[in-house]
Amino acid sequence: MRVGVFDSGAGGLSVVKSLLEHKLFDEIIYYGDTARVPYGTKDKNTIVRYSLEALEFFNNFDIDLLITACNTVSAHALQEMREASSYEIVGVIEPGIRALKNKLPQKDTSILITGTRATIASKRYQLELAALGYHNLTAIQTGLFVPLVEEGIFDGPLLHEALKYYFKEIPLPSAVILGCTHFPLISDAIKGYFEQKPLMIHSGEAIVEHLAEQCGITGSNGENHLRIFASDNVEGLRRTAKGWLGDV
Ligand code: DGL
Repeated sequence: MRVGVFDSGAGGLSVVKSLLEHKLFDEIIYYGDTARVPYGTKDKNTIVRYSLEALEFFNNFDIDLLITACNTVSAHALQEMREASSYEIVGVIEPGIRALKNKLPQKDTSILITGTRATIASKRYQLELAALGYHNLTAIQTGLFVPLVEEGIFDGPLLHEALKYYFKEIPLPSAVILGCTHFPLISDAIKGYFEQKPLMIHSGEAIVEHLAEQCGITGSNGENHLRIFASDNVEGLRRTAKGWLGDV
């Protein structure tokens, strides 16, 4: 089975890592729109336009399924992308919410939703969680984490200052939704910031569960071949992939 993975840039590699670890597919075609990242600071119309243009890239490949690893795209452009394509498209928000619901069914669980400005402004996580009865929600845009991760800063004083800046006045969470592809790379630092060590919801792990439960894709025999493409500086993206993906 051949799957496409689309992200605004490098962040979706955190989802690819989970797909590779579970050997779900024969071939993964990754496309990062590195020429136009970040999407998280753009408005809906722009995000939809860029996402539909990304579909044109995937027309060059005979993919069976497309995963939009980007939370910002999943929040704003999933419906438009589905209407414009003939294959199934899976976003990361629904899987993230399902993972949380499976792990923490108590509706008064204190949940911290993190994401880009566009993802938080869309209220997708907030509304879907509220519809399920969760009522103890805090949502904050933590856009500064994106460039820190892009710089390879996964720990240390600079990141700690950013954590303090965003989290110093919020209620202590029992769960944190890492609502941006970059955040799994600083998951340990975010978890470590809170004394009670909340449960971390990671898009990559959530999508693996979703693919098994909803699409019957459990893999383990896939050839696991990864091909990386980008709208700018593909060599840079391939270097980042080497660093982030390690030996998987
Ligand atoms: N990939 C984006 C997301 O998951 C983060 C980076 C961006 O702003 O484009 O929301």
